[in-house]
Amino acid sequence: MATIVVLGASSGFGAAAARAFSRAGYDIVGVHLDRRSTQAQVDAVVADVEAAGRRARFFNVNAADDEARAGVMAALVAEFAAGDVTGLLHSLAFGTLAPFVGDRPVSRKQMEMTLDVMGSSLVYWAQDLVRAGLLGRGGRIWAMTSSGSHMVWPGYGPVSAAKAVLEAACRQLAVELGPRGITTNAILAGVTDTPALRKIPGSDVLVQKALARNPGGRLTTPDDVAGFLVLLAQPGAAWVNGNVIRVDGGEDISG
Ligand SMILES: NC(=O)c1ccc[n+]([C@@H]2O[C@H](COP(=O)([O-])OP(=O)(O)OC[C@H]3O[C@@H](n4cnc5c(N)ncnc54)[C@H](O)[C@@H]3O)[C@@H](O)[C@H]2O)c1
Repeated sequence: MATIVVLGASSGFGAAAARAFSRAGYDIVGVHLDRRSTQAQVDAVVADVEAAGRRARFFNVNAADDEARAGVMAALVAEFAAGDVTGLLHSLAFGTLAPFVGDRPVSRKQMEMTLDVMGSSLVYWAQDLVRAGLLGRGGRIWAMTSSGSHMVWPGYGPVSAAKAVLEAACRQLAVELGPRGITTNAILAGVTDTPALRKIPGSDVLVQKALARNPGGRLTTPDDVAGFLVLLAQPGAAWVNGNVIRVDGGEDISG
């Protein structure tokens, strides 16, 4: 059964993608990290996927933990067949937002955690899904990047570094998995009002600047990105590989 694995499926882009892909006929494997206080948003995504007539298989685990990933993979191997996974979306937001210098600068531990969760964890999920044969010919890998990959925002340094890791991982996977018929692209979304955005220090200034420069005159929404991902899963997009694709209404290129 065509299935999309969404890392970060309970909120923001991941939740919107889970809903959009289920409406488009895909089953959803969701990985997320939620406490009781945010369980309602997980339940809402699962209910919407099921209301669309699709299967929702959700795991509340740390996607950057090797043991947790092994547990999810064991369940997927038992429950899904080779080639079932059409797409893997990396949409994890969990990192330290702190300056590099100053009173409370980012520590080595915080930096490495951020690079791992928001950057290199993509590689290990891709390795496992390909090795297990779940993600095969015709498969797609997408990872969420931002303008902060090439611009400096106060306190965003560790996440900016993670975006560089993520984009490099996408390029490498694009070339290494291309011969297997699997494509990889980074998706650069515009500034979008999600819980992750609100955690960025001075996010209100980011929002005002985005509103001023976006040719479309509004912020990006999770649905803008989800709709495009559904298009990218179509056979007609099979030759799109190794790109950073902006889905931002033209925000990133506007002065
Ligand atoms: N919001 C924006 O303006 C914006 C713009 C461009 C790119 N992005 C990127 O999009 C991605 C998703 O961001 P969002 O705004 O949708 O965030 P969000 O906070 O709305 O959602 C984050 C998701 O990640 C999950 N998560 C976080 N850490 C996890 C972990 N260790 N293990 C498993 N699940 C974990 C959460 O449970 C949640 O489902 C991030 O990479 C972010 O940098 C965001």
